[in-house]
Amino acid sequence: MIGGTGLENVALLDFRAESIDTPYGRVSVDIGRFGTHDDPIVFMSRHGKGHTVPPHLVNYRANLWALKDLGVRKIIATAAVGSLSSRFKLGDIVLLDQFLDFTKSRPQTFYEGGEQGVLHVDMTEPYCKSVQAVIREAGESLGVSLEDGATYVCTEGPRFETPAEIRMYQILGGECVGMTSVPEVILARECGMCYASIGMVTNEAAGIANHPLTHKEVVESLQAAGKTVAGLIQEAFRI
Ligand code: HPA
Repeated sequence: MIGGTGLENVALLDFRAESIDTPYGRVSVDIGRFGTHDDPIVFMSRHGKGHTVPPHLVNYRANLWALKDLGVRKIIATAAVGSLSSRFKLGDIVLLDQFLDFTKSRPQTFYEGGEQGVLHVDMTEPYCKSVQAVIREAGESLGVSLEDGATYVCTEGPRFETPAEIRMYQILGGECVGMTSVPEVILARECGMCYASIGMVTNEAAGIANHPLTHKEVVESLQAAGKTVAGLIQEAFRI
């Protein structure tokens, strides 16, 4: 599980903290049990405990390498998102389905030529359908409604967008906006791991909201959704 904003401090049972050295740097995770599920779960806090790493500086390659190294096969990630669409209201929980990539300065691949070779990974279905199906089933069993099929715009951050950018993303088909799913989803695919992401709608995007956006607003709106999503993930692991 990769916990994003609002889910940085999910507590596993009987957990041990572990540091993994990767070619890209050291990564800390907790390994333990989540709910009634017996198989070990790895919990990684994307922004570090206490949210100390901004989205454009997250060491995505180290994170995904470490998970692969630990034998992780399936990932459920969470992401705070702003809404660009009347389909997605504050507090909604959405399954990401496609992405539009507007990041600018992030290494996006493990395959940089030379010894690593060259890989053009398929992105027809960027997010894993089988993990999504399990999350949907978890939603049904808990009575949590999930919005499906969101096209996610990934911006570089850490600033929020201008209203003009948001209008452009809407024209291009973007429905929600965040700062982290790219390159995480791409690197997971390069490692052959099945990756799904649950978006939590924390705000209306800039210019749709009639007030300036703040990180505080995003974190505050996550409090209720964070609990629901943690429960949803726990149930998904049980299934
Ligand atoms: N923009 C970018 N990232 C975000 C937003 C937003 O409006 N809300 C939560 N993460």
